[in-house]
Amino acid sequence: MWNNDPKKTAWKGNVGVWYKKSVGVEGSYYHQHVILPNTLRLLDLKPREKVIDFGCGQGVLGRKIENEYLGVDLSVDLIKEAKFLDKNPKHSYVIDDVCKELKIYGSFDKGVMILALQNVKKPFGAIKNFSKLLKSGGKLVLVINHPAFRIPKHSGWEMKEDKDVRTMDSYMSPLEIPIESSPFDKKDNQVSYSYHYPLSAFTEMLFNNGFLIEKMEEWISDKKSEGGRAKIEDKARAEFPLFLAIKAIKNG
Ligand SMILES: C[S@@+](CC[C@H](N)C(=O)[O-])C[C@H]1O[C@@H](n2cnc3c(N)ncnc32)[C@H](O)[C@@H]1O
Repeated sequence: MWNNDPKKTAWKGNVGVWYKKSVGVEGSYYHQHVILPNTLRLLDLKPREKVIDFGCGQGVLGRKIENEYLGVDLSVDLIKEAKFLDKNPKHSYVIDDVCKELKIYGSFDKGVMILALQNVKKPFGAIKNFSKLLKSGGKLVLVINHPAFRIPKHSGWEMKEDKDVRTMDSYMSPLEIPIESSPFDKKDNQVSYSYHYPLSAFTEMLFNNGFLIEKMEEWISDKKSEGGRAKIEDKARAEFPLFLAIKAIKNG
């Protein structure tokens, strides 16, 4: 049976500490090189547009935005850090569960959720909340780990002589996957959860909540290997995207 407590998905305690450290003030390598520039391009913010960011963590995206912005996350630690780091007077951060009825009012032009839709147990609840909070014609940008190629503990690489081959043992079945923060240190270890759904589940959640998909993009890593297997590794990177971005419009 899946964990029923949404608080368990908030990145608190050691998971929050680990995330703060690994993402840092500027964001991880992939935030800086792939996710933030491409998310900002898809958001295509115009002056005076208001933005709401679900699962904002410590505010890596918020700090790149000049517009009026509201970041929402269930983690007390990460919201505290976001408030400490973001001095923009047009920005606010609140602690809330984005999958449940929210205590937030107002209407927004743009919604965004980066690397967090797969960390909430009920992603359909988050999409429903976006539908309530976005204006008619408002745009939503979702960025997830590519569900067809990257499922924690269920996808991997196999080295063949002249190829790096992607391996998968599951795809269509929804999965709840525990992720340990310090698997080798039982004292410090804390568990967060990743939730897998196939791509069709995300398109259905959007459609059922009045969104039409405008665009889907698949983002690859820009890293380059060195050494004897460089050509093979670079080819595999170019073939298998890390992230999937979906841009949708609220219809009506
Ligand atoms: C991988 S982090 C991504 C954070 C941020 N978007 C970034 O890219 O740095 C996932 C975030 O989802 C948050 N989260 C998990 N469940 C949540 C929920 N039900 N409501 C709000 N936030 C939640 C966690 O606390 C964590 O900050």
